[in-house]
Amino acid sequence: MTKKKLFDSRRDGEQAASALLDWYDRVRRPFPWRGTTDPYKIWISEVMLQQTQTSRAADYYLRWTGLFPTAEALARAPEEDVLKAWEGLGYYGRARNLLAAAKVIAGTLGGRLPESYEGLLALPGVGPYTAGAVASIAFGLPVPAVDANGKRVFSRLLDLENPVDRSAGEETIREAFALLLSHDRPGDFNQAVMELGATLCLPRSPKCGKCPLSGICRARERGTVLLRPVFSGKEKGETAEGKMIVLLREGKAFLRKRPSRGLWAGFEEFPWEAPPAEPPLPSALSHAEGADFGLIRCSFTRWRITLRVVIVPAQDGMEQNTPGGRWAGGDELASLPLPSGSARVRKMLFRAGLIACPSRRPEAGAE
Ligand code: ADE
Ligand code: SF4
Repeated sequence: MTKKKLFDSRRDGEQAASALLDWYDRVRRPFPWRGTTDPYKIWISEVMLQQTQTSRAADYYLRWTGLFPTAEALARAPEEDVLKAWEGLGYYGRARNLLAAAKVIAGTLGGRLPESYEGLLALPGVGPYTAGAVASIAFGLPVPAVDANGKRVFSRLLDLENPVDRSAGEETIREAFALLLSHDRPGDFNQAVMELGATLCLPRSPKCGKCPLSGICRARERGTVLLRPVFSGKEKGETAEGKMIVLLREGKAFLRKRPSRGLWAGFEEFPWEAPPAEPPLPSALSHAEGADFGLIRCSFTRWRITLRVVIVPAQDGMEQNTPGGRWAGGDELASLPLPSGSARVRKMLFRAGLIACPSRRPEAGAE
């Protein structure tokens, strides 16, 4: 027999929510976005925090809000500056969507974010999680914001056997979450659940003894904590191996342009291939010989790719048949937004002195 409800009465639910909030008030970490009520800044932080560790996101958040302090300032910024400020966070579609949404906000909404869940959801790139987070944290609306941490916490509270990455499981979690959600402090409640998932309800080493919700946690009661959450396994990553070619000529490196669709659309990068991931290299590059410069690992959507980086002194014609190909020197290379793999190789090239890094010239005693 499985109980459907997490708690027997509304009062039990309120007590659990208030225990969670008390705990959060005691232990909350002082992230920079927790010191503001500015909806624009909260929106930026929540988009950054998707798939990014909180400590890393804090640096990006401070730099970004310095460069683009309002939605209007962001809307006026050139795309290249916006992508540059995002560089290293990955999933550049998110930065492009931020810019597109800022243009809507500045152009038709008088510079202010919509003050409803539905209004937020209508912005480019804003899904249920982000809309819920901004609605609850910035506007105090009682809307759930359930991220991966929240799913883990609730899959355990409910001892949920359904996969959390399928709609039936998600729906069960959302219902239970909405029942427990504090209507007085919805933003803090949402963040408290995230905080619990990030600090106590950990995937492999949960600290149930310190958990303010242990009294209502079914997985804890039944000894199934480490079996939750269940995943459907539909999102297994695939691996591929290949190489990245750095063609060098007179202090410049050769870049190609990525296709105009798909991940990193339209970005420039050092040419690479890792079959069966697309696109392949033209044969002159694919067969070029050079010196090994180390391995890099990067992720592309579902691909986990390991690339052997090869430095190749350019010979005539090697760069032919490479769409959008061109040569870039140190200054230009330093200022370009690059996909994460190429950005790492750029740093390696500067460090090794294979390309002159503009910011290092004084160190080298050239002045
Ligand atoms: N992850 C996503 N949003 C967060 C927030 N507001 N605080 C901590 N972690 C988060
Ligand atoms: Fe997670 Fe343990 Fe708390 Fe249950 S009791 S919510 S498993 S930390």
